[in-house]
Amino acid sequence: MSVVITGATGHLGRLVVEDLLAGGLPADQITATGRDTAKLADLSAKGVSTARADFGDPASLKAAFEGADTVLLVSGSEVGQRVDQHRNAVEAAKDAGVGHIVYTSVLNAAETTLILAPEHKATEEIILGSGLTYTFLRNGWYSENYEQQLHQARETGTVLTSAGAGRVASASRSDYAAAAAAVLRDPAAHANAVHELSGDTAWDFGELAAAMGEALGRAVTVTNVTPEEHEAVLTGVGLDEGTARFVVGLDTGTREGELAATTGELSRLIGRPTTPLVETLRTLV
Ligand SMILES: NC(=O)c1ccc[n+]([C@@H]2O[C@H](COP(=O)([O-])OP(=O)(O)OC[C@H]3O[C@@H](n4cnc5c(N)ncnc54)[C@H](OP(=O)(O)O)[C@@H]3O)[C@@H](O)[C@H]2O)c1
Repeated sequence: MSVVITGATGHLGRLVVEDLLAGGLPADQITATGRDTAKLADLSAKGVSTARADFGDPASLKAAFEGADTVLLVSGSEVGQRVDQHRNAVEAAKDAGVGHIVYTSVLNAAETTLILAPEHKATEEIILGSGLTYTFLRNGWYSENYEQQLHQARETGTVLTSAGAGRVASASRSDYAAAAAAVLRDPAAHANAVHELSGDTAWDFGELAAAMGEALGRAVTVTNVTPEEHEAVLTGVGLDEGTARFVVGLDTGTREGELAATTGELSRLIGRPTTPLVETLRTLV
């Protein structure tokens, strides 16, 4: 069995490689890829193969994927460019004779109104059109996404949101990585499967503030604002309009319940409960 992982220079991809190694998959069956292989030197020292794979460079993708049974395509981080980038990766996988592609998508990708979803939905369609065997890991929110707000809460004692009473079933990156590793260890068991992955518990922003308070050892409250007020605050502190609108858009999706589903699939896949929010926040203090 040989597995190639894209985005191994990033948080999630690295955790997947580490989980595979910890689970006993021989290092020489794993290829960790990224744009800058120098960032993978420690994995290389453990016997993991490394290769440069740039979503903008189809030849690098094909060379990195050659001989692999399974590719984990970790969605890229350059929002707005990802459909073309992911298409390059899927075509390269097909050209390289890869049997199975595993893609990190977004919760309820086909129907969600979440602002980030269209690129994931388009990627899933490209994969379906490729004829490759696939697994979609439709990841919900990372608890780590609130790191910046945690640091702001330490300074200000409050969390600013326009998500209202919206709930978020977040889990830690390592939970999602463990799920990806579980699929990569036994891809045939997940052939053409769609996994809707999220945390076991959906919390609201009052509970987020309480968890931050616990992690920080200080009182934290919520400041609820309208989307218009939220955007004005964000541009007021220097965010450009596009970024501010994007952040507010994420809160709109949250308010509308797009991140609230507790499917139980993540804990079933990893064979343990997902990591409680407060536990992840404590690691970020
Ligand atoms: N579910 C969630 O809550 C959530 C939150 C944030 C992001 N995400 C998605 O999940 C992915 C993984 O999360 P993460 O925390 O690991 O993100 P991350 O730490 O930012 O890692 C992103 C990875 O994508 C790679 N990448 C970006 N552009 C690339 C390109 N043009 N060619 C090749 N590789 C490229 C990066 O490589 P370099 O080291 O070369 O930059 C990096 O390895 C993100 O990329 C994003 O799509 C999900």
